[in-house]
Amino acid sequence: MLTKIGLLGYGNVGAGVARLVKTEAQLLDDKLGWPLSLVKAVVRNLSANRGFASDPGVLTTDPHEVVGNPEIQVVCELMGGIEPARTLILEALSAGQHVVTANKALLATHGIEIFKKAAEANRDVMFEAAVAGAIPVIRTLKEGLTANRIQSLYGILNGTTNHIISRMSKDALTFQEALAESQAAGYAEADPSSDIDGLDAAHKLVLLSALAYGVLPRLEDIHVEGISLLEPVDFAFASEFGYVIKLLAISCLHDGHGPLEVRLHPAMIPSGHLLAGVNGVMNAIMIRGHASGDIFLSGPGAGMMPTASSVVGDIIEVARSHLSMASTLRPPLLGWRNLKAEAVMPMSEALLGYYLRFAVLDKPGVLSAISGVFGRHNISLAQVIQKGQDPRTGLVNLVMLTHRALERDLQAAVAEARKMETVGDTRLIRVEESL
Ligand SMILES: NC(=O)c1ccc[n+]([C@@H]2O[C@H](COP(=O)([O-])OP(=O)(O)OC[C@H]3O[C@@H](n4cnc5c(N)ncnc54)[C@H](OP(=O)(O)O)[C@@H]3O)[C@@H](O)[C@H]2O)c1
Repeated sequence: MLTKIGLLGYGNVGAGVARLVKTEAQLLDDKLGWPLSLVKAVVRNLSANRGFASDPGVLTTDPHEVVGNPEIQVVCELMGGIEPARTLILEALSAGQHVVTANKALLATHGIEIFKKAAEANRDVMFEAAVAGAIPVIRTLKEGLTANRIQSLYGILNGTTNHIISRMSKDALTFQEALAESQAAGYAEADPSSDIDGLDAAHKLVLLSALAYGVLPRLEDIHVEGISLLEPVDFAFASEFGYVIKLLAISCLHDGHGPLEVRLHPAMIPSGHLLAGVNGVMNAIMIRGHASGDIFLSGPGAGMMPTASSVVGDIIEVARSHLSMASTLRPPLLGWRNLKAEAVMPMSEALLGYYLRFAVLDKPGVLSAISGVFGRHNISLAQVIQKGQDPRTGLVNLVMLTHRALERDLQAAVAEARKMETVGDTRLIRVEESL
């Protein structure tokens, strides 16, 4: 018995997979019971330098030396992007091959089509590496926590933004300084928009929500807010209030039923919480099951070998459970017989605490005028601080923490306060007390 694999893509992750398959051949054989063999790997440029050199004859520019090749049982899609990855995965499934992918952008946008095709073809699509790199969160939700109704899920799902936020928090760097440092260290890409605007983490949140609740939210229904407006002063105020700021992916079911609340934005969390201690490029997920209680997973969320660890784990899983059995009965791919395409709760209905920072003129009556606006919109203030005069503008920071309020009331109050002549720049960060 031999399990033959083909790679679509031999970049960062692909080279890591090739390295593990080759250098850990004996370990994998001991664990699986038979060897793995990397037969072919598809690239665009045959002469580029690779993180781990391939065996002679393995690299090719023709995807159909992998897809539809009857010798290859498992196709690993590690090229990224939507096309041609989508078409090649669909073709591989039609040809009877199992698929392992790390492509969260593709699954978050075309997951339904791909999982439907896999079910029709009675083949697997595994994607542990698509969410939180080396952390086995997919397997935890699909297998370990199957007996649970999941109540909530809170995650730090993007290492680049967590690195930037950690640097801003620890050394009071500006966003631009921390971003430049992350780029120099190789964590942030030259075009970092997908990370810093929250899209990358939102893709992962879509997949985790599908696994946790059997609901695949539409990306465009999710409130997604990035980190580029955060300022060092907000981290300092957060610390004064006993909080840290994190870019948090959140999905929860109130009282165990819908609609699902799904959102991704910077959030203040209590500084003693486990998620608050997750710094640098690390990822973490806190899952609350009705029977299990709180489960906390943390580890490297990206990188060549951590991501390859999850890809090879999936290859072994496919080989172990399916290639070895003649069974035609396959469990649902996302752990649910039916995946519902339900609408998620509109952000305007979220009930949260808020941190608000207004740059205001230091004049009598300003505080009471702003408090009046909030009172009229049913928002009660928990704490108010006024300090830190900007020598250039003469404005002071008026910082407020609210009790829980409806997002739509809060936004209406902020919009009204912004119109006041005495109010300048405004910042809003949500506070997660109930995680
Ligand atoms: N890097 C990470 O830490 C990480 C973590 C989690 C998930 N992922 C996911 O893993 C996937 C791969 O990421 P990566 O960092 O390894 O990317 P990468 O370094 O850019 O590698 C992509 C590979 O795919 C090949 N490729 C791309 N388009 C192709 C096409 N049209 N035809 C043939 N070959 C093509 C490239 O060929 P050339 O080398 O010739 O250009 C390259 O070998 C992505 O979906 C990513 O989101 C990555």
